[in-house]
Amino acid sequence: MNNTKKSRILVIDDEISITSSLKRTLEVAGYLCDTANCGRDALKKLRAENTVDLIITDIRLPDISGIEILDIVRIKYPFLPVIVITGYASIESTKEAIRKGALDYLPKPFTSGALINAVKQALRSSSMRCQYKDLYHIVYQSSSMEEIMDMVTRVGRTESTILITGESGTGKELIARAIHRNSRRSTQQFVTVNSGAIPEGLLESELFGHVKGAFTGAIATSHGRFHVADGGSLFLDEVGNMSLAMQVKLLRVLQDGEFSPVGSSDVVKTDVRLIAATNMNLEQAISSKTFREDLYYRLNVIEIHLPPLRQRIDDILPLSEFFLSRLAGSEHSKKLTLSSTAVSALLSYHWPGNVRELENIMERASILCDSESACRPKPGSGY
Ligand SMILES: Nc1ncnc2c1ncn2[C@@H]1O[C@H](COP(=O)(O)OP(=O)(O)OP(=O)(O)O)[C@@H](O)[C@H]1O
Ligand SMILES: [Mg+2]
Repeated sequence: MNNTKKSRILVIDDEISITSSLKRTLEVAGYLCDTANCGRDALKKLRAENTVDLIITDIRLPDISGIEILDIVRIKYPFLPVIVITGYASIESTKEAIRKGALDYLPKPFTSGALINAVKQALRSSSMRCQYKDLYHIVYQSSSMEEIMDMVTRVGRTESTILITGESGTGKELIARAIHRNSRRSTQQFVTVNSGAIPEGLLESELFGHVKGAFTGAIATSHGRFHVADGGSLFLDEVGNMSLAMQVKLLRVLQDGEFSPVGSSDVVKTDVRLIAATNMNLEQAISSKTFREDLYYRLNVIEIHLPPLRQRIDDILPLSEFFLSRLAGSEHSKKLTLSSTAVSALLSYHWPGNVRELENIMERASILCDSESACRPKPGSGY
């Protein structure tokens, strides 16, 4: 952490006397402090400022509860630490808050010393968490992605099957992971299967497992991905590529929550939340009889469509900056800045490979550019 920068703290409580007294204590201790007296106001401030380093929130608020704020923070600002303040009466919700990722809680009334201690610890641990943040961090600015992230927050709490559609490289897997992280299954496995990459003959055993001797080469019993994902989520990528025979088997798991390993007549129960993805137009596949309509309706309980990058131009520069910072961190090199020519080239390109193409272009630019400020990544040079 940069010691010269003052950390900014957002305090949320419906009682103005509490927010103002906490603000005073925090400012005396050298922090910058902003306050909100309801959840909606807090979320507005978070969105507008985007520079908050820590949230301190009451659980009971007049509009959106502190728990809902935690849900939203976990998805939209996954590395922003939250401390919950609460009266003794709401010990159950305190436990829930901790389960949902609150770093600490302070039962009211608490001393200034206890508050400052909790703040210091939360800021220290968040700077450690930031080192890992790159892997699944979702960057966006466009209103279409804003809506998608709202949806991710809402569907995470349900058990519904989800179908994520969108062109290749739009971030379907990233969104699937975010849904899992935001669900009650988040402490369990997130298992991925790419049905397009596994040969037809092996897919059934990959998904459902097999018993010893089920086929040539089945020298031992093996568990499939549905077994491994039990209690968690299964991400089934490129579901449009599945054969019709496999589609029937998948339908059975979705309808009855059960399957049989290859070579066995045993029925195995499974508790898996399925998130499927495809870059195909499944409605067209239904018309051409390569995709089962009943399976489509089972999968498509909730559809999340990721628009191509060219339709969310507002995301291009924030994503570019994000990839450049990440690359600078990993390559021990200085962060490149984009020249104005690069900015206009990035904004006018049509991005057939979407975010993945942008990520690759930034990587190539960071290797090839020797000047810190005159970097000119060339979109369209392959991905
Ligand atoms: N909004 C985003 N913020 C940060 N990184 C992103 C974002 N969207 C996509 N990415 C990155 O772009 C790459 C492609 O994303 P992902 O693999 O999720 O796309 P996909 O839609 O599943 O692609 P495909 O259809 O080819 O499987 C990944 O490295 C991912 O981390
Ligand atoms: Mg993918």
